[in-house]
Amino acid sequence: MKPLILVNLKLYKESTGERALEIAKSISKVNRNKYQIILAPSLLTIKEVAQKTKVMVFSQHTDFVELGAHTGRVSAEELKQIGVKGTILNHSERKIPLKYLQKIIEICKKNKLMTVVCASTLFEIKKIAKFYPDYIAYEPKKLIGSEVSVTEAKPEIIVKAVSLVKKISKKTKVLCGAGVHSKEDLGQALLLGTSGVLIAHAIAKAKDPKKVLEEMLM
Ligand code: G3P
Repeated sequence: MKPLILVNLKLYKESTGERALEIAKSISKVNRNKYQIILAPSLLTIKEVAQKTKVMVFSQHTDFVELGAHTGRVSAEELKQIGVKGTILNHSERKIPLKYLQKIIEICKKNKLMTVVCASTLFEIKKIAKFYPDYIAYEPKKLIGSEVSVTEAKPEIIVKAVSLVKKISKKTKVLCGAGVHSKEDLGQALLLGTSGVLIAHAIAKAKDPKKVLEEMLM
């Protein structure tokens, strides 16, 4: 299976509104022979990106709800209906209490949405692995948005995370993220045993996101 590059566009002014579709269109042209590239646009642009481009799209979040009397919520079923293939869950900027997290993962499975669950410590990883998500993304909170890559700052924790997850859930793959911005960071992440990276500002805020991504994948 190809390593995964999951680009979280977050809610930056450089990556929301009309920019989301522009970025997605340009990123859909990046060569995907060696890597699987997935984009997580803002929730207000996700439908347009999923339906007007060829890029695979994940949600930045999904709530613990089925379709019904809920207000201001994001449901797995509706995401599936509009062409979204998976979801990030429990991002440091959008935490979900563990008791709901397990249920949301179950609802996502039922709706055939892939799950990438973020965790910022080994303690959290251990708990989340028991819910058998498709991916766990290790992201130390302090390094998110910084220029210091998790692969440089916390290599030993990444290795521990990979072996910990393997022991608990054979089907769950590990990603890492926070500060990832170069070809070297990506190479290092793969060497440490991960199945890819979660990356945001280096691409989402770039003048030419396609170029930055291509340079990383070279
Ligand atoms: O979701 C990815 C993220 O939290 C990492 O952010 O900007 O450090 O790549 P960034």
